[in-house]
Amino acid sequence: PQKIIIDTDPGQDDAAAIMLALGSREEVEVLGICAVAGNVPLTLTSRNVRIVCELCDRRDIKVYEGASGPLERPLVTAEHVHGKTGLDGPVLPEPSMSVERQHAVDFIVETLMREPAGTVTLCALGPLTNIGMALRREPAIAGRIKRLVMMGGGFFEGGNITPAAEFNIYVDPEAAAEVFAAGMPITMMPLDVTHRLLTYRRRVERLKAIGTRPAVALAEMLEFFERFDVEKYGSDGGPLHDPSVIAWLLKPELFSGRDCNVEIETHSPLTLGMTVVDWWQVSGRRPNATVMRFADDQGFFDLLTERVARL
Ligand code: BDR
Ligand code: CA
Repeated sequence: PQKIIIDTDPGQDDAAAIMLALGSREEVEVLGICAVAGNVPLTLTSRNVRIVCELCDRRDIKVYEGASGPLERPLVTAEHVHGKTGLDGPVLPEPSMSVERQHAVDFIVETLMREPAGTVTLCALGPLTNIGMALRREPAIAGRIKRLVMMGGGFFEGGNITPAAEFNIYVDPEAAAEVFAAGMPITMMPLDVTHRLLTYRRRVERLKAIGTRPAVALAEMLEFFERFDVEKYGSDGGPLHDPSVIAWLLKPELFSGRDCNVEIETHSPLTLGMTVVDWWQVSGRRPNATVMRFADDQGFFDLLTERVARL
């Protein structure tokens, strides 16, 4: 199996991504899950990671706490999307498993420096703060990581927290800028992809019909989560962002895109956190990421349903 580290700020869609990974044991080995502040503050994202691990009966997963806020700015959260706990929807018990003593950033650096170069994939589902911090501490990790696969940004679709910016990048644009400048292989899953992965009622019902505890809890999370988009955009189902990262690892053929240069806006108050994607290769700047644009949405939901059923 491919060795992965998941860096996350759950978030119902983060929970779906963790479940997709844990349900795919033949393909991915989760070396650890790092919590970062984002959708809700760190104490809650750490709690939520552990709730999801316990829900999947995986107390053996190592959970690390990372940054409690962005590199250079105050934290912006998204309770308006995810609810007060970040994981609103199902009623779930408080977690009893503990957090590792090691800081998430030290865990990331140590793992990447210890494991053979090109063997560990980093999956980023929240603001890029932990990864930015890890790069500042040990720039050599850029040459050792197999690939960073991250959910964030948007270009043809615009933004979801401001007209120009997607939430994960907006929360910590400095970290994002440093990550995109670091020279590591990056696959980016922007809103252009995730706005095609809609949680239609029939898809949520199909998950619920599996009948297991993790599947029913996930369906209830998605019912809460989609409420926001149904009310806001009138679509029957909200975009399921973060599992696209894990789905790409499992079945890259579900997605298509191209290598582009991506730069992050860190100054303009109007467009702060914007991902400037040179899709048409007009800038002459070197590609630094593989940017996805299209997805087979039914194939994606089939995969998610099949893997959650294995939990
Ligand atoms: C991203 O922001 C968060 O609210 C979601 O969990 C996802 O990672 C989408 O913009
Ligand atoms: Ca997230």
